[in-house]
Amino acid sequence: MKGLFITFEGTEGSGKSTQAPLLVDRLREWGHTVRVFREPGGTPIGEEIRHTLKHSHANAAMTAEAELLLMNASRAQLVREVIRPALARGEVIVCDRFYDSTTAYQGYGRQLDLTTVRHVIDLAVGPTRPDLTFFLKVPLALSEERLRSRQATMPFIRDRIEEADRAFFERVAQGYDAAAAAEPKRIQIINASGTVAEIQSAIWRIVAPLVATRGVQTW
Ligand code: TMP
Repeated sequence: MKGLFITFEGTEGSGKSTQAPLLVDRLREWGHTVRVFREPGGTPIGEEIRHTLKHSHANAAMTAEAELLLMNASRAQLVREVIRPALARGEVIVCDRFYDSTTAYQGYGRQLDLTTVRHVIDLAVGPTRPDLTFFLKVPLALSEERLRSRQATMPFIRDRIEEADRAFFERVAQGYDAAAAAEPKRIQIINASGTVAEIQSAIWRIVAPLVATRGVQTW
């Protein structure tokens, strides 16, 4: 039995980290065995890499190339240590970010060569690809507003990637649009300017028929 692999994507403050757990709760209520992860991270090795990428005091000089490789080192570990075994058991995997983030942030945002970025992703994930991806799309101004209010509640947590300028985040948004246009079947664009409940319903309308028709593991 093959499981189901769902990922969430979007810019900072798009609501992914609210919606992913809501979907997990709903799937569990329906009796599915669900595992939830975030990227970078999700394994002990990946969480250390996450700290290096985002919060470490030693990360200020990190190059775009090192960032690309560290994101994908974390991913290579997550895929082999947990995602593949769980999918093989027929479970549902929900992941807060996956390789579309690399296309958007390192490819478009940092402007690394897109073919090289694709090759690095290919090495990290091999044949393990999401069945379905939700791209939670918000206008950049709303993303910035939500990010500012989050930073105001946690001013002591520094995040290297969030320190990038507006032009970087404009390119990231373009990167997501390009990824979604290239794979319209896998990447579902969700208007994430609405309420939490509205966005949750839009997501469930797409997931419910999928889990109903697939033989995923249930208790
Ligand atoms: P988040 O978990 O709060 O979304 O933080 C993850 C950060 O890492 C976010 O700024 C996006 C960034 N990121 C990349 O730049 N490339 C990637 O491949 C991934 C997974 C995340």
